[in-house]
Amino acid sequence: MFARNARTLLAPSARLFSTSTARQTKVTVLGAGGGIGQPLSLLLKLDPLVSNLSLYDIRGAPGVAADVSHVDTPSEVNGYAMENLDAALEDTKVVVIPAGVPRKPGMTRDDLFNTNASIVRDLAAAVGRVAPTAHILVISNPVNSTVPIVAATLEKAGVFDPKRVFGVTTLDVVRASRFLASVSGSTPSECDVPVVGGHSGPTIVPLLSQVSKGKGLQGETYDQLVHRIQFGGDEVVKAKDGAGSATLSMAYAGAKFTNSLLRGLNGEKGVITPTFVKNPLFADKGIDFFSSPVELGVNGVEKIHPIGPLSAEEEKLLEACLPELKKNIEKGKAFVA
Ligand code: NAI
Repeated sequence: MFARNARTLLAPSARLFSTSTARQTKVTVLGAGGGIGQPLSLLLKLDPLVSNLSLYDIRGAPGVAADVSHVDTPSEVNGYAMENLDAALEDTKVVVIPAGVPRKPGMTRDDLFNTNASIVRDLAAAVGRVAPTAHILVISNPVNSTVPIVAATLEKAGVFDPKRVFGVTTLDVVRASRFLASVSGSTPSECDVPVVGGHSGPTIVPLLSQVSKGKGLQGETYDQLVHRIQFGGDEVVKAKDGAGSATLSMAYAGAKFTNSLLRGLNGEKGVITPTFVKNPLFADKGIDFFSSPVELGVNGVEKIHPIGPLSAEEEKLLEACLPELKKNIEKGKAFVA
């Protein structure tokens, strides 16, 4: 009863899960005991495309696994403590990484670099060794640097495939959709805003001109909306007052992106969403990672779409994004080199 309700309630209304395809997949969460990891694990337990859920953390994962495993959906759940990372990764097809420290008030995502860079590098090295063909979804911040760190770590191990490494920028897309709906008096489903660039402050570039509800916005309304999309994370950090950053909305966004990838891997056509990947669009400017709408398919990245026509305001936003993004990417690469 609950399982059916959970599916019908979550799937169409929240546009989170599709049940249209049958093949099922093992998914591993690294950092499953944390603020994001716990609700993300719960949402992945509800995803009918996940057959096995493997939960790992340096603390608390077996408890989260025992708890989540009682939910009456078909998937199997296993929890792994610190010393069992390899077992957690065995035969996994998808690895989601929300491991690392979150922001406190006054911090930028880049302030997390010193702690999270080595956590992400070490986890990526383990994935490269145990599950070299797995798809890796990076949530840990700063995403603009941690994705290049994962790529460079896998490259060093000789197993990097740019089709299989993703920075999860879905929360920016979710926020843009929700906030534009509020401003325009419509519903989020009418406000599917492409958000391109990176995942921090000015590197987040919402393309409001490309959706009908956002096209006509101008002046202060436009500026305030863009600012809210770029700095929406700060609202949560401030409201939580030292207790962390977005966890519940991020878990939703992480589960949503994972479901999109699984649908693509299962052969569904036309699954397109922005994600931060190795991307040729701005490679001539020395920026080889960028978030633009990506079609997901049986191998992961199927096709990277161009960002499309920009308004004059969006050209300016992109201009502000690129140098900052370049710095963040280079910092990640330098860390591994
Ligand atoms: P948290 O501190 O509540 O949880 C992090 C978890 O990672 C903890 O359970 C910790 O034990 C675990 N961990 C630390 N080192 C580990 C390792 N080596 N292996 C496995 N697990 C390890 O933090 P929260 O709130 O869950 O945030 C996690 C990350 O996600 C942060 O870096 C945060 O900035 C980022 N984030 C990303 C967003 C995005 O849009 N991509 C949005 C919000 C947060």
